[in-house]
Amino acid sequence: MQSSKHEKTCLNKKKTEYSTCVISIDFENPQLDMMDKAGKILRNGGLVAFPTETVYGLGANALDETGVRRIFEAKGRPLDNPLILHVSSPSDVETFAKDIPDIAYQLMARFWPGPLTLILPRRSVVPDIVSGGLQTVAVRMPDHTIALLLIEKAGVPIAAPSANISGRPSPTSAEHVISDLYGKVDMIIDGGVTGIGVESTVLDILSDPPVILRPGGVSVEELRDLLPNVTVIDNDKVEKPRSPGMKYRHYSPEAEVIIISGEADKVRCRINKMASEYSKAGKKVGGMVTSKLANGLHVDILKIMGNPNDYSQIAASLYRLLREFDVDGVDVVLAEAVSNEGLGFAVMNRLYRAAGGRIIKV
Ligand code: TXA
Ligand code: MG
Repeated sequence: MQSSKHEKTCLNKKKTEYSTCVISIDFENPQLDMMDKAGKILRNGGLVAFPTETVYGLGANALDETGVRRIFEAKGRPLDNPLILHVSSPSDVETFAKDIPDIAYQLMARFWPGPLTLILPRRSVVPDIVSGGLQTVAVRMPDHTIALLLIEKAGVPIAAPSANISGRPSPTSAEHVISDLYGKVDMIIDGGVTGIGVESTVLDILSDPPVILRPGGVSVEELRDLLPNVTVIDNDKVEKPRSPGMKYRHYSPEAEVIIISGEADKVRCRINKMASEYSKAGKKVGGMVTSKLANGLHVDILKIMGNPNDYSQIAASLYRLLREFDVDGVDVVLAEAVSNEGLGFAVMNRLYRAAGGRIIKV
């Protein structure tokens, strides 16, 4: 962002439907009058994009059907893909969900605020449009000062998907939100770069055994502490995805993405071979690898995801790098597979989907 801390900019570009205010908020010392204004926009049926600890969200008053409908329009999101309801305290959950199992309270105590979304039976106060007509509602309490303050200032729960155009990589900075949604929303709160970089884990505890519908910021290993028999859904194998969002193309840059998996030297060798073939065909080739593979890699544009075993670093850079490749005009991204450990599992889930399932094992 160009604007300094606390400065408010209402950019006035042409050919936009809404005048979008972009404000910078310092999470250590949030400017309360601006946060009041953001809360008011939400109460009045407007859209505010805001940072969370995972990715930026695009919020509307979850109890206002018209406001929520605007989220779907702005993102170009299919109406059958339900939204997560964001709350600022675990005690708020009972207002929106019923028959909450004991394990849900244990999970909230352990992981909230944080990147865990729980699927619970929905109360009728939650409009159909939020839950895509399902009898359940997805709820989470984000671990971010600005997000929590926004919910409190709004005085209503916030329904929020990631603040990107549907199908694009999720936004991890206000610049990403501006590039996707400028002129389609009322306010964008710039609170800096998000820490985790991949979305929350979506967990269905209503089924037995409990199922992870979307891997995310809370790892499978962490969940096993409380849920030893937790499983992970294989969206390639189920006919009707239980997390409706998983059936759609996702997390994709404009470029074609291909994952190369295997032992480091072999992966480097294969990327170099493929890069040379693509170059001969006139394509601009990007390489997205961990630092271990960088030496001796010959691609047009090289981007380092992080150190090989630092999955937090890799997750935090993933969406930014995918977006950067688009800005660089890359045609093909050859990406190194990472291990499925910890956050690496969520990273591989997103990469796999960005690649449309194209993975080469060497
Ligand atoms: O970290 C996050 O979760 C971010 C931040 C902004 O909170 N939000 C986010 O929202 O990623 P979205 O809409 O991009 O992804 C929500 C996922 C989708 O896959 C959706 O299908 C699923 O949660 N979901 C929502 N409600 C559900 C429900 N009732 N049953 C099953 N899946 C549900
Ligand atoms: Mg999303």
